[in-house]
Amino acid sequence: MCGIVGYIGCEPAGPYLIDGLAKLEYRGYDSAGICLNDGKELVVKKAKGQLAVLKEMTDNGKSLSGTVGIGHTRWATHGEPSDVNAHPHLSESGRFAVVHNGIIENYQQLKDYLISKGVVFRSMTDTEVIAQLIEFYYHDSLIDTVIKVLGKLEGSYALGVISRENPDEIIAVRKESPLIIGLGEKENFIASDVTAILSKTRKIYRLENNEIAVLRRDSVKIINTDKEEVHKEVETVTWDVDAAEKGGYEHFMFKEIMEQPDAIRKTISPHIKNGRVVLDEIKLTHEQIKSFNKINIVACGSAYHVGVVAKYIFEKMLRIPVEADLASEFRYRDPIINDKVLTVVISQSGETADTKEAMKEAQRRGSYALSIVNVVGSAIAMESDDVIYTWAGPEISVATTKAYSTQLAVVYLLALYFGDILGTIVPDEYKALINQLESLPEKVQTVLGHKERLQYLASKFFNSKDIFFIGRNIDYALSLEGSLKLKEISYIHSEAYAAGELKHGTISLIEQGTPVIALVTHEELIGKIVSNIEEVKTRGAEVMCIACDTHPEIKDVAQTVFIPKVCDMLLPSLAVVPLQLFAYYVASLKGCDIDKPRNLAKSVTVE
Ligand code: G6P
Repeated sequence: MCGIVGYIGCEPAGPYLIDGLAKLEYRGYDSAGICLNDGKELVVKKAKGQLAVLKEMTDNGKSLSGTVGIGHTRWATHGEPSDVNAHPHLSESGRFAVVHNGIIENYQQLKDYLISKGVVFRSMTDTEVIAQLIEFYYHDSLIDTVIKVLGKLEGSYALGVISRENPDEIIAVRKESPLIIGLGEKENFIASDVTAILSKTRKIYRLENNEIAVLRRDSVKIINTDKEEVHKEVETVTWDVDAAEKGGYEHFMFKEIMEQPDAIRKTISPHIKNGRVVLDEIKLTHEQIKSFNKINIVACGSAYHVGVVAKYIFEKMLRIPVEADLASEFRYRDPIINDKVLTVVISQSGETADTKEAMKEAQRRGSYALSIVNVVGSAIAMESDDVIYTWAGPEISVATTKAYSTQLAVVYLLALYFGDILGTIVPDEYKALINQLESLPEKVQTVLGHKERLQYLASKFFNSKDIFFIGRNIDYALSLEGSLKLKEISYIHSEAYAAGELKHGTISLIEQGTPVIALVTHEELIGKIVSNIEEVKTRGAEVMCIACDTHPEIKDVAQTVFIPKVCDMLLPSLAVVPLQLFAYYVASLKGCDIDKPRNLAKSVTVE
């Protein structure tokens, strides 16, 4: 997500802050800013776009005076990328400045309250609420005020706070969003990521949830929210900069696979309140939802595969016909579409040319476009009639993983939300699904624990020329993604087939030793897929299965990776993880350029 840096010492803070932000550029951002205490005022410089803009604006940080300051690279969540929405954010009178990573889920209530008390806001961000709350409640102690404000915030945050009256202090806080403290000689640092401080120090404290650090030039004190001191061990970072960017992993793809529990949690949790799905951000009315007689999904690549999963889920749960279409096909096939059709547009980047044009085509024909997008303020997000954002954060690896998972999470939210309005989900089922949805991040974490087994299985298959994926129902939809993941990063030819289609041609490709990956999670069709597995085994296939742990007998059919049993709707989120890890390890064993596969681009903005 966003990046935080902070400096307090005896040197000019500006150049360090700019340098620290440059080290965080790899994470992806849309604006950047710094704020220094120059002895009289808190001076903020911030700008939309590349860090180069801020560098030029501040002469690489040298034009600002002061030896204490905070900086930020922003990846927009609340409010589009713009100068005014960039961090740091000042309180109304400019006494306090804040940088923030994470999401304040109850910011609108807090903002409404402050507005009712006469506070004037400048930005659309959730972060500004924090700066304004600090000023609103401040009497004489910044630390007491920050603790009071923390008690009012719901959500996740890493914060850096400085004040105009006290140029000798930075306050840093962590809850759910990483923050570290760097320890120097007569200087100390804060950073969301060790890369930002490695050129200055390797000695750090890692803040845990609800810990607060008070940094001065010659000391760092860590306390909890009861103001009790917390004693921590100093950690010495041994990573080089390259490894540090990837959180110690070898590739961004692996880092992003491991980030999925968190990304799913961030996408789901703001939308579940008191056991119900809440989609405050959409304008679509209940009457409109009831008026649709069809849902049309358009997307490209992995986002299209989410659409195929969504087709199975929506049809089953909403009893509405659903068509999932490749955007590039949809836009040129004179589609039959009108105002009775809801168009769901799925895109990580929000800039994919075909997806955008397919959406516009649907809108021209009277359809309402609801988009599921990761990049705030992107073209699709802005031009769709409604947008629900995924909170995957920047995805750097070309092959998507966490964006795919968060798109699935939004599909589940939509299924529950629409199903409730349409009356197609009974209350008990609704309640059970919400409970399972809330525990999904933990279950994904459990599946990530199988990585060594996937590495072993990859070592058996990585020399293959072709690999086939089979499944039925949602498992088929998922096998499309498993196959794409493998081929795009390992360059092994792979195809996904609906298992029922095997006998119509594909089985002729199976010979001694042909690897087949079978998805065996869809409860109703286990018997049928097991028969298909036997058919390919008889012809020499070497089969690997992904199955639920409620069916241990599958291991007698083939080598199996087990995932926890959840309801059918949510299984794709668990079953996709072994497929991602398998593709990753195969590509790694083959020595491929995993994060930047040949001929592929992260965002395809031309046809
Ligand atoms: C490229 C990416 C894929 C992505 C597809 C659609 O092919 O490599 O990971 O699924 O574009 O991109 P979008 O940004 O619209 O989701």
